[in-house]
Amino acid sequence: MSAVVALVPAAGRGVRLGESLPKAFVPVGGTPMVALAVAGLVASGVVDRVVVVVPEGLPQDIIDAALTSSLGALPPVPVQVVVGGAQRTDSVRAGITATPDATHYLVHDAARALTPPALIGRVVGALYAGNDAVVPALAVVDTIKSVDAAGVVTGTPDRAGLRAIQTPQGFTADVLRRAYAAEGAATDDAGLVERIGVPVHTVAGDPLAFKITTPLDLRLAESLVAQVVR
Ligand code: CTP
Ligand code: MG
Repeated sequence: MSAVVALVPAAGRGVRLGESLPKAFVPVGGTPMVALAVAGLVASGVVDRVVVVVPEGLPQDIIDAALTSSLGALPPVPVQVVVGGAQRTDSVRAGITATPDATHYLVHDAARALTPPALIGRVVGALYAGNDAVVPALAVVDTIKSVDAAGVVTGTPDRAGLRAIQTPQGFTADVLRRAYAAEGAATDDAGLVERIGVPVHTVAGDPLAFKITTPLDLRLAESLVAQVVR
């Protein structure tokens, strides 16, 4: 039987946002980011279980309040809580370890709180179509340059061949487990999968799946949240 498990890393501190609460628990329009992200996953209708990875030492009442506010009138999907680690990869690894029954994983940043359910459906659709690794991608609007340690430009890759990558990223469970068992670091889960030589397929991303990182992002999310249909 297939089990699509969504791992939601929510264990970061949110240093760049600069709030006192860990970022994933900061409210957007009154609802914690992690609750909005979980609600989007549930609303997609393609997720069998959600695993929220929380910061070590966060009081249980804050976790409970966030996770009871997330589901509202949506159909019940089991939500499991596990404790994360110092780096995002440690947090994702904790989620993988806790879910030996998963056949497919979605790994979805709590900070991408406004991600449309349709995007989540596209990722899972591409997994079911036979891809082992799927990421949402957007065309890059800025010109991207590489620089050296002194800040001098060393190159300008052709923008037409660049994409900004979002979450949820989808994987067959075997591929994600193998990627995390291998040595190495990467800035996203697909980066680890690329290192073990598995092709990563892209589907259309969505600007609403932006990652709330800075105070400006939080203001943007506050202004959009009322229009996001769950
Ligand atoms: N995350 C996690 N465990 C960590 C670090 C990050 O679960 N040790 C999660 C965050 O909670 C977030 C997602 O990974 O939902 C993306 O990380 P990021 O946007 O960098 O969030 P933070 O690490 O919290 O922010 P910052 O880097 O500004 O401290
Ligand atoms: Mg971080």
